[in-house]
Amino acid sequence: MSISLTGRNFLTLRDFTPEEIRYLIDYAAALKTKKRAGSDRQLLKGKNIILIFEKSSTRTRCAFETAAYDEGAHVTFLSNSQMGKKESLEDTAKVLGRFYDGIEFRGFKQETVEALAEFSGVRVWNGLTDTYHPTQILADMLTIKEHFGTLAGRKLVFAGDARNNMGNSLMIGCAKLGMHFVALAPGALYPDKALTEEMAALAEKTGGSVTVTSSIDEAVRGADVIYTDVWASMGEEAEFDNRVKLLSPYQVNAEMIEKTGNPDVIFLHCLPAVHDTETDMGKLAFDKFGLSAMEVTDEVFRAPYSKVFDEAENRMHTIKAVMCATLVETAIGEDGKPIVD
Ligand code: CP
Ligand code: NVA
Repeated sequence: MSISLTGRNFLTLRDFTPEEIRYLIDYAAALKTKKRAGSDRQLLKGKNIILIFEKSSTRTRCAFETAAYDEGAHVTFLSNSQMGKKESLEDTAKVLGRFYDGIEFRGFKQETVEALAEFSGVRVWNGLTDTYHPTQILADMLTIKEHFGTLAGRKLVFAGDARNNMGNSLMIGCAKLGMHFVALAPGALYPDKALTEEMAALAEKTGGSVTVTSSIDEAVRGADVIYTDVWASMGEEAEFDNRVKLLSPYQVNAEMIEKTGNPDVIFLHCLPAVHDTETDMGKLAFDKFGLSAMEVTDEVFRAPYSKVFDEAENRMHTIKAVMCATLVETAIGEDGKPIVD
């Protein structure tokens, strides 16, 4: 099967077929091997890329920058522009489209990244909005595939704020790839009903499933992957007290891991993680609620089955695959996999 993503934007995984998502994961794996061998091909030589950040970032910004540099592109980082202040989104997009080949956007509204795509006329990549975080899911899936060898049929439990960007995007990724996705959350933080129904229907076709539950025992039994995220996402810090109350019972701890009954289970987290009292948020959780960790205990975070730093590294390889696949033509082998030699 011939797959080309050249000229496509990367705004949400909803826009991509299972074959296209698998292609990006395989492409990232090939680029990772290539980098380890010290033989990057400078696929993005001569390209100019801009990274726009309305919200904070460590991994996503650094992954885009290093991936672009590895492939020979030039990068601008923009965090304090006129966009939305003195200049409309449409006008900004049109200007940036004259300068750049690709635009990464991290911010609040999904509509902003969609408008950049509509008006810039160049490739646009979503580096996280309130609604979706699609590049993160590619890194998560590459990590799971590296660890288990397969994706289809694996059971992934997302414990926490299941109505936000990570819960939404993991649900979509799992449904597309024939995995069993479980949102484990209190009722107040269940994912959007329409999205859940749409993804459950899709999962039926791909051989996967989508379940939403508040029962820890039911959710985690037989899980291959236990996944969590911060309890108060960027922009939702005012919800801190309420989230601690709602989500404390769903903290990922050794007891939850034990309940999976799976000796091969792995732990994943998109990071940053509040797993001790070393951070501002961790200190607040301790001072206000006496918690020594929030969404995951230090014990689980540092356990051998925790693959969070493999996962973080894979942000770079997968983002590189997204940029290369959408900006330049990529040769496809007879097996349907990208050829990077
Ligand atoms: N996982 C992730 O997106 O990390 P940053 O917020 O540091 O980019
Ligand atoms: N849900 C988190 C993800 C961080 C990568 C946030 O939006 O802050």
